[in-house]
Amino acid sequence: MKHLISINGLTLDEIEEILKLSEKLKRQQKEGIQHHILKGKTLGMIFTKSSTRTRVSFEVGMYQLGGYPLFLSANDIQLGRGETIYDTAQVLSRYIDGIMIRTFKHSDVEELAKYGSVPVINGLTDLMHPCQILADLFTVYEHKGTLKGLKLAYVGDGNNVANSLLHGCAKVGMDIAVAAPKGYECDKTIIAEAKEAAKASGSQVILTEDPVEAIRNADVVYTDTWVSMGQEAEKEQRIKTFLPYQVNGELFSKANEDAVFLHCLPAYRGYEVTEDVIDGPQSLIFDEAENRMHVQKAIMAILMNQ
Ligand code: CP
Ligand code: NVA
Repeated sequence: MKHLISINGLTLDEIEEILKLSEKLKRQQKEGIQHHILKGKTLGMIFTKSSTRTRVSFEVGMYQLGGYPLFLSANDIQLGRGETIYDTAQVLSRYIDGIMIRTFKHSDVEELAKYGSVPVINGLTDLMHPCQILADLFTVYEHKGTLKGLKLAYVGDGNNVANSLLHGCAKVGMDIAVAAPKGYECDKTIIAEAKEAAKASGSQVILTEDPVEAIRNADVVYTDTWVSMGQEAEKEQRIKTFLPYQVNGELFSKANEDAVFLHCLPAYRGYEVTEDVIDGPQSLIFDEAENRMHVQKAIMAILMNQ
């Protein structure tokens, strides 16, 4: 494991290693046991999009590992004024020990990894959100005690989060059903990769336009915003298209009785999800947000300690 760009690039063993170390680091942090695994190391964090969870969880996580996090807003660094990814990767590699990047084009993250000499972590692109989904798998494991054999239903936009869920669930042997309207399906290449991984793990990938079909027998129900970062101009149209995909009490009641609800956040109550579900007893959203930090600490510890 040299970088974390896509969950599809990880083996099942590597995913299990991340989840195991996340569990250990979380326990130690709760018990007040210091773990300065990355003492003296620096993580550069490039953001060309907004963030609350990703920024704070990486920054605090790096501090807890004894290292130094450096926030690099694209508004302030030369990348935002047209300096190339190639030069940025070369220069940053001379100063720092790892790069986390949140940006639009997925290929920019791949280029950064190709031209730099330090580990690169994908903190979200238009195509994927792997750190989020590793934290989601960890959250489900904590609450259900297993992953293999469970079913996750994702209802809504076939976006970056849905794409990485396809990769993640298929790898660990969870069935995944994605219900998205026509024209808003997941990425075709990622669907093919997930189907391939599902063959190996013995799970199912179900793609449908029908939220009720997706949610039947689901152990985990997941949704995300209908308007991702960069899609603000399409807001009105998207709200109309996605209205039948709202995760409300009625739809949620068709999942298994002990189903849990996940949302990567930020959430827009009254749109993709209603208050009774997201603020109800089966919602794990704040454990899920907290786990971003524990899981990313494990990722950084593994990648940056080699
Ligand atoms: N879930 C997530 O990545 O949140 P932020 O956009 O706040 O980082
Ligand atoms: N799909 C959302 C996720 C935010 C964490 C977006 O890309 O804006």
